[in-house]
Amino acid sequence: MTDALIAALRPEAGEAPESQIVAVVNHGREKPDIIPLWAGEGDLPTPDFICEAATRSLAAGETFYTYQRGIPELRAALADYYEKHFEVRMPAERFIVCGSGMQSIHMAVRMTAGTGDTIVVPSPTWPNAPASIELNGAKARTVPMTFDVSGWTLDLQAVMDACDATTKAIFVNSPSNPTGWIMPLDDMRALLDFARARGLWIIADEIYTRYVYGDMPRSLSFLDIADPEDRILYCNTFSKNWAMTGWRVGWLVIPQALGQVCENLIQYNTSGVPAFLQRACVAALSRGDDFVDFQVRRAREGRAIVCDALSASNRIELARPGGAFYAFFAVTGIDDTRGLAIRLVDEAGVGLAPGVAFGPGGERFMRLCFARHAGDLSKAMDRLTDWLNNHPA
Ligand SMILES: Cc1ncc(COP(=O)(O)O)c(C=O)c1O
Repeated sequence: MTDALIAALRPEAGEAPESQIVAVVNHGREKPDIIPLWAGEGDLPTPDFICEAATRSLAAGETFYTYQRGIPELRAALADYYEKHFEVRMPAERFIVCGSGMQSIHMAVRMTAGTGDTIVVPSPTWPNAPASIELNGAKARTVPMTFDVSGWTLDLQAVMDACDATTKAIFVNSPSNPTGWIMPLDDMRALLDFARARGLWIIADEIYTRYVYGDMPRSLSFLDIADPEDRILYCNTFSKNWAMTGWRVGWLVIPQALGQVCENLIQYNTSGVPAFLQRACVAALSRGDDFVDFQVRRAREGRAIVCDALSASNRIELARPGGAFYAFFAVTGIDDTRGLAIRLVDEAGVGLAPGVAFGPGGERFMRLCFARHAGDLSKAMDRLTDWLNNHPA
């Protein structure tokens, strides 16, 4: 009966894959004393000053329909944020507030590709991006990246070669979830030139730009080299910088001419992000810099704890991530990462995401989120090391 009902659906919906990360989380969610490093979020709750802005708004009765594109105050605050952190002044009209980073990707895909089209995606990749592409009726064409302990690399020529007449867009997530790879400036320039010449869109998922571990305060953005009218859709979110994963608010930066199109897409989907959530986002942008800096410092410390412990094992292959907040490592001799993730939940009390979830090139790896309290991370690394010692290859 279930099969028949699903078969009667639009195939793209019926065949959408279960998230293999969520499958592991569901397996271990209720396990006492589990250290959960499987999801892309830290352990800190949203700061009070952000929550208070939302409750003040609710108390003031801001419970009505609101602007589809976002309240003017939030769009202005986003423009100020980019001026401060990206040294680029953009009109507020270029910002569209939406219901999460995930929805910003979904909208970007919806605007650019459908049945018969392809979007090229470097891989390993956050699985929700290709899933969104396929749900929208298009095909995700993955281009595997190359692993080396000195870092992940993307063969730009392979990306260009993967683009054919069906290709509408290239998805670039830098810094990358799960690898921590950061696209070099020369590659950004070359890709932009190529996209311009071919009339392709770039969907730039830049949600981790503030989480970088070199000397720069942020990683490079296509905004650093692009023109306002370039075919680039920038995806972003409040989730990671301000510990707001549960709020579900994100934004797009678009060429200004697309404002009405985005308004329409939002109108016929969620019809807008609740105003009281948006008030909290204004507080996050205007008063949240210290908190973001604190989170990045914490992630830097977490990265050192995790990477040092992993590097000490001769069974682990790891490239230290340049950005984002994940260690993506392989355990020599173990290829079934879904099975390994389940065993680590059951036998070590550590929750990791299986690399098989992240597509071609990621199958051998495990993803560990280090945006967490140092004590928890040290304990998790002890548990992991003990488990590896008790289970020789
Ligand atoms: C690369 C990337 N893009 C987008 C998102 C979406 O974030 P959210 O939907 O929580 O705003 C995530 C979340 O993990 C991510 O890792």
